[in-house]
Amino acid sequence: MLLPGYHIVAVAATVVSVTLVVSQDMIDPVEQLGVDVGVMVGHVVKHNLPGCHLVLVTTSYSSLVTSTLLSMGMEAGMVVEAGWVLSQDQLAQDHLLQGLWGDTRTTCRALILDLTASNSTELFLRFTVLSGLRLRSQTVVVAIGGKTGVKEVLLHHSLRNTIHAIYLAVPDFTLYSLPSHGNARLGRDLPQEGVTSERVWVYKRCLYCNNGEAHVKFIQMWNINSNLQFMDNILHDQIQNMFGHELRIVAVPYFPYMDFERNSNNLGNMVKPKDSLDVRIIETFADKLNFTYKIHAEPNRSFGEDRKGNFTGMIGQLQREETDFSTIVAPTPGRLKVVEYLRGYPSDPLTVTSLKPALLPPHLALLRPFEGNLWFALLASVVAWGVFMWLMQRAWWWVAGGRSVRFNTALLFGWGALLEQPPSNPSVNDSGRLLVGWWLVFCLIIDTGFRSSLVSHLTVQGTTKPLDGFEDILERNSWKWAIEPWLYKGATLEYFSKHTSPIVKQIYSGMEVLVADEALKKVLDGGFSLIDHKNYIEVVVASWYTDTHGDTSFYISNKGISVIAAFGWGFRQGAPFLSRFLQLMSRLEDAGLINYWTKEVINRRVKQNRAASTLNLNAAKQDTKEDDSSEVVLGMHHLQGAFYLLILGCSVASLNLLREIFAHIRSSP
Ligand SMILES: *[C@@H]1O[C@H](CO)[C@@H](O)[C@H](O)[C@H]1NC(C)=O
Ligand SMILES: *[C@@H]1O[C@H](CO)[C@@H](O)[C@H](O)[C@H]1NC(C)=O
Repeated sequence: MLLPGYHIVAVAATVVSVTLVVSQDMIDPVEQLGVDVGVMVGHVVKHNLPGCHLVLVTTSYSSLVTSTLLSMGMEAGMVVEAGWVLSQDQLAQDHLLQGLWGDTRTTCRALILDLTASNSTELFLRFTVLSGLRLRSQTVVVAIGGKTGVKEVLLHHSLRNTIHAIYLAVPDFTLYSLPSHGNARLGRDLPQEGVTSERVWVYKRCLYCNNGEAHVKFIQMWNINSNLQFMDNILHDQIQNMFGHELRIVAVPYFPYMDFERNSNNLGNMVKPKDSLDVRIIETFADKLNFTYKIHAEPNRSFGEDRKGNFTGMIGQLQREETDFSTIVAPTPGRLKVVEYLRGYPSDPLTVTSLKPALLPPHLALLRPFEGNLWFALLASVVAWGVFMWLMQRAWWWVAGGRSVRFNTALLFGWGALLEQPPSNPSVNDSGRLLVGWWLVFCLIIDTGFRSSLVSHLTVQGTTKPLDGFEDILERNSWKWAIEPWLYKGATLEYFSKHTSPIVKQIYSGMEVLVADEALKKVLDGGFSLIDHKNYIEVVVASWYTDTHGDTSFYISNKGISVIAAFGWGFRQGAPFLSRFLQLMSRLEDAGLINYWTKEVINRRVKQNRAASTLNLNAAKQDTKEDDSSEVVLGMHHLQGAFYLLILGCSVASLNLLREIFAHIRSSP
């Protein structure tokens, strides 16, 4: 990459070609050594970091190592003169550093520090700090320098997140620089007897080897010219063992994902974790990677609010690198800018908790087997059939004479047949009997339908429509709703305040804030719903508001609203163990353990809570059903409709009697 106006040279054989013109007899052993070291580093890079974006940092372009490396033609990258960069003003530095690490397509990066041309490593280390190396834990660092600088470089704090860093210590040399007059031909093909036996000591920074702290490890010794510079995965192996490194974790309680007990002497908000999903996952990781951890509570139970780029709560702690990672937190665009994120498990949808749907009024139980329009159709059929029957018989009477059929006889027959008690057949000819036959078939079907539907309706009693989402809440008249205060911040608040759907906006404008217990009391009084996370509120209801038969007065909607795609953990930027955690997390998920644990944690907690509240006072009070036996015994309230009908029939008959008597008295003087 070539940025005009800056002192950057694209590393490509075509752009920079340095030729060393050194004749065989006048070669300087120190120069030869510099070229050899350059060739060796070139091989290391070629074999171990193929296709990587290389950033070569040097103090001087006249460094023999740098120029040899450049002449070997590395694929892509940048050459930076550390001293020059540091001498620029802020703006130029920012501009320069922007392109330093490649772009989003870069999957592999390496930083090569050529310390050979200078005896001051301080300049390099200032550059590594400035370059933001700490944010890129996967960047491979290869340093070449004298033996004295090994520890100073490898243990420098700018490399604190770097997983793979090696130091190639070459024998004492002062300055591997080209003589100022410059043009020399590469002397690789001119091995000198005296220098081929020179050794290189390879050191590696081991991130956690010293009881969890960084440590410099001697790996092996090479012969400079032996061309066997493979590192056997030294540059690609993963963190397997953290040797008891202590990770600091910040947490906000949110059962079933995270829960803890506060210690009584609250030093630094340390807490004792309780069985929950995140704790199980952390324990598994700690076991696998051999790290220890301390969990701290976020004092304000705050996930993280954006205060003009500076976050509060857990996200703030991660942003300031006070902790290594956090337990469950939701990713939002703002948060993802300041922390790294590990997706853990599907998010917990928001659900609506309301009173259980009430039983439908029993006095209408007899009408319920049929829908209203069927009742009307039935009534119309009886009348229409009666009229038709009467007309047919009447027509036959005109033609053939004889016995005639009265209209109310035909109507009564139709009605009686429907009730399976037909009076004697009124028809006088075959067509009439045919009509009667088909009417009986019709009655059979209708009767069977009514009877079976009535039985099932009496067995499973109908209820009103449950509240299954925001739309249902808004449809109810003068309904109210609330959300819990600890939930109503961060990502959830952002969801409600920024959503463009009119339904969510209406919910947002009418939202009250109440803790679960108070809200559930209001729900019991009716006309109220609590909006809460499904897994969370299910535990509350199952623990404290459910009787021994498993009956509860609350209904938690099935349809959930996903505010966020997934839940997971936040990490401080550049955390070197993140990629390893990611791997382990997907293994847990693939094995189905996350799902299984979530359920198990919930069930166990519900059992504990219920055992703790042996009296189960809440549940006893709300126990509305008198019997939980599976057989339904029909009672007065099931069949009261039949009695109403009887009373109705009696009154109609009595009224009719009065009318008849009145008419009789009027007609007989
Ligand atoms: C190397 O170090 C010596 C003293 O330790 C110093 O005088 C000299 O200037 C240094 N050279 C460079 C190039 O920094
Ligand atoms: C875990 O780390 C401790 C502390 O450094 C160490 O003593 C122990 O051997 C390690 N365990 C494993 C299995 O490597």
